[in-house]
Amino acid sequence: MERANIDKTPLREAKLPIVWVLGGPGCGKGTQCDKIVAKYGYTHLSSGDLLREEVQSGSDRGKQLTAIMEKGDLVPLAVVLDLLAEAMLKKLGGSKGFLIDGYPREVAQGQEFEKEIAPCAWILYFEVSDETMTQRLLKRAETSGRADDNAETIKKRLVTFHKHSEPVIEAYSAKCSKIPAERGIDDIFADVCAALDKL
Ligand code: AP5
Repeated sequence: MERANIDKTPLREAKLPIVWVLGGPGCGKGTQCDKIVAKYGYTHLSSGDLLREEVQSGSDRGKQLTAIMEKGDLVPLAVVLDLLAEAMLKKLGGSKGFLIDGYPREVAQGQEFEKEIAPCAWILYFEVSDETMTQRLLKRAETSGRADDNAETIKKRLVTFHKHSEPVIEAYSAKCSKIPAERGIDDIFADVCAALDKL
């Protein structure tokens, strides 16, 4: 898949706080991001949502992505980074900062983001067991309509998470809050606020 030629200088020059929001499938990233947006007014960009929009657009790039996402694999780094950069540029005016949800999912994604766009200020990582994530996603499957919310793909998403995404937490442990997330949504959010208030 080809790279888009994007001038990312405005993103670097804006010097806005950038927070990566990480955790396994169904750990509650999107749920907590909605609450962060409501309280802090950050701009929320989910890599998964951007990829699903690309699939729905029917573009050639979108067609290539469907097969990858239905297998629970990672989409090539360049595709996600270009989609994110394009979306960040569109939302730059008036933004107070960015919540990047579901990225980076491998150490190389983090390195490329910080090289091409800007350093991340802080990372929120939601810790949840595989059993709980599976239960949450199977429940969500009753209404989500997502092609990857089924027992078989959930198993693969968990394998991908442990293999590729967990190492990101270790690599960036110096700027990461590990938040236990098998609790009530508001209890988790209190820890989120404690981390963000320090930025
Ligand atoms: P993506 O869309 O990012 O999916 P995901 O990481 O699997 O996570 P979800 O969005 O499904 O869950 P979430 O953590 O936001 O949880 P939510 O808040 O909804 O990625 C999909 C695919 O795209 C990937 O598999 C990959 O193929 C590709 N992709 C994406 N990013 C990529 C990247 N950077 N590089 C390469 N490929 C990429 O909560 C889940 C459910 O639990 C909800 O029903 C919610 O109501 C409930 N819930 C939430 N919190 C709680 C709580 N505290 N207690 C009880 N229930 C709760």
